[in-house]
Amino acid sequence: MREKMTSKNSPFKVNLKADTKMMFCACGKSDNQPFCDQHSHKRTPQTPIAFSVQKDGTYFLCGCKKTSSPPYCDQTHKKL
Ligand code: FES
Repeated sequence: MREKMTSKNSPFKVNLKADTKMMFCACGKSDNQPFCDQHSHKRTPQTPIAFSVQKDGTYFLCGCKKTSSPPYCDQTHKKL
């Protein structure tokens, strides 16, 4: 399996609405980071990750694509 491409070495700070289905970019190639752009992953082994949040608020979504708890940043980027 190919290594996941890194989008950037820090998280994306985003405001999210509760109970809204979103697609997190797992391949790192989307032009709509940190969300899937519906096409860039098609030439990679990765697929987008569907998720939603339970509360409106500010979240930090992984930009390095190496988190062990996608779509959220788990500080793995600090070890890269
Ligand atoms: S940006 Fe990927 S773990 Fe923080």
